[in-house]
Amino acid sequence: MNYYKGNKTEGLTPITSPWMLELLQNSSLLHSLLDNYGSPINIHHLPSFNKNIKKFQQVFRAKKVDAQIFYARKANKCKGLVKEALNTGIGVDTASFKELQQSISLGGKTDSLVLTSAIKTKDQITLAVKKQIPIVLDNNDEVELTQQIAESINKNALIALRVSGFLVDNKKLYSRFGFDIEKVKEYIVENFVTTNKCKNLKLKGLHFHLDGYSTKQRAIALQTCIDLVEELHQYQINIEFIDMGGGILINYLADENEWIQFNKKLQDSVKNKEESLTFNGTGLGYEMIEGKLQGSLKTYPYFNKVNSESFLEEVLVNDFKDSSLSNSERAIENNIQLRIEPGRSLLNQVGVTVAKVAHRKQDAKGQWLVGLEMNMSQMLSSSADFLLDPFVVYQEDVTSNDEAVSLYFTGAYCLERDILLKRSIKLPKLPEIGDLVMFVNTAGYMMHFFETEAHLFELSTNLIYKKLDVNKAPTTKDFINDDNL
Ligand SMILES: Cc1ncc(COP(=O)(O)O)c(C=O)c1O
Repeated sequence: MNYYKGNKTEGLTPITSPWMLELLQNSSLLHSLLDNYGSPINIHHLPSFNKNIKKFQQVFRAKKVDAQIFYARKANKCKGLVKEALNTGIGVDTASFKELQQSISLGGKTDSLVLTSAIKTKDQITLAVKKQIPIVLDNNDEVELTQQIAESINKNALIALRVSGFLVDNKKLYSRFGFDIEKVKEYIVENFVTTNKCKNLKLKGLHFHLDGYSTKQRAIALQTCIDLVEELHQYQINIEFIDMGGGILINYLADENEWIQFNKKLQDSVKNKEESLTFNGTGLGYEMIEGKLQGSLKTYPYFNKVNSESFLEEVLVNDFKDSSLSNSERAIENNIQLRIEPGRSLLNQVGVTVAKVAHRKQDAKGQWLVGLEMNMSQMLSSSADFLLDPFVVYQEDVTSNDEAVSLYFTGAYCLERDILLKRSIKLPKLPEIGDLVMFVNTAGYMMHFFETEAHLFELSTNLIYKKLDVNKAPTTKDFINDDNL
């Protein structure tokens, strides 16, 4: 074996799928891929994507509720995943002109696409109306613009209204998006019933997407939307679907205890001004103010007992209900299709990022810095750090003469802060130039969301991986460059 996970003990061990381990064991294949496509590469495993789709479908099927999944492609830009989503019969949530246009050219249609962009330009709306793709409208200006465009091309537009401001435990959930749930009924009656202001708009659905990861908030938001659907029946308005957006939590970590211990150690290291756990002692959200530990961990919650299917299940069951029926039972009763727009959770275990070691050095503090042929934007979390131990694939075996080393991986941008992971990574020996580092489970938001071309660096190559023969070891032929799809 010539691959090792960083931090054999006291680490944050990622859940690592068999397909990832198979690649780690096949270092000659990984080297060939990097030789062919440069460093870093992103590898996407289609069967894992498919598995995630099936798991969500199974939850809905068990509840016997009409449902559709729309893969939120903003989480990853690959065409291969969009194609796979459409081939398996689920839809795709698009959030820009190009995402919409490309998804249409990959086979997306009225039932399999939705447009949810935060800013909707005329060209997006025109394309969506022409192709009869439902548009989730956020505000009155968008409603008026869509009405104008639809009327000018003599078509009807299919629309849903995004709503927000749900009351949970007597507190209103703030969002910059959507119509206020407390005022939207009045708005609908005024614009869709008592006047013909929206004569070219067919109101098909309600939509919400909540910040954060509370199942309770989602369950109550769904319940409130179903209440609204029922109230609208008296005005002969028939809402066909409620879209609950994304934000379904996933679990990245194999061991809850490691997560608890890491949190404790991080707090202690901030208190004691220690620098061995994180780069230059960064607290990842914790800091000492006037001698007291303040703040909280500002990262994704990497360990979650309730995740993926069980998360969705909690929203559908709704333990917080004020009626005797669950959310899914009420959806069935009202003939409502339930929709979700998962991004990250459909990409769970779908991708890895692999880069090559370029140099090793010791800084003035004596810390080892290992430079990789990649930059921070090619694996960047929106939160304070990506808290999963990486794997190193050595070219030469580790022997009993080798010395363990703690190090930080650094990237190619000219910024002091291009430290790829803020946690110190302990390895059985110092990597050599040309050794490989694999970061696992990076497909959701980590690869593309913040990727930039500063210094004119090439963007990473994205490979779509599906074995041509499942019984054989993978070869380079099983990997297709997403640009060529
Ligand atoms: C409207 C909407 N739908 C779906 C998603 C996908 O969310 P996630 O990747 O957390 O599932 C987002 C993410 O920002 C969103 O804004």
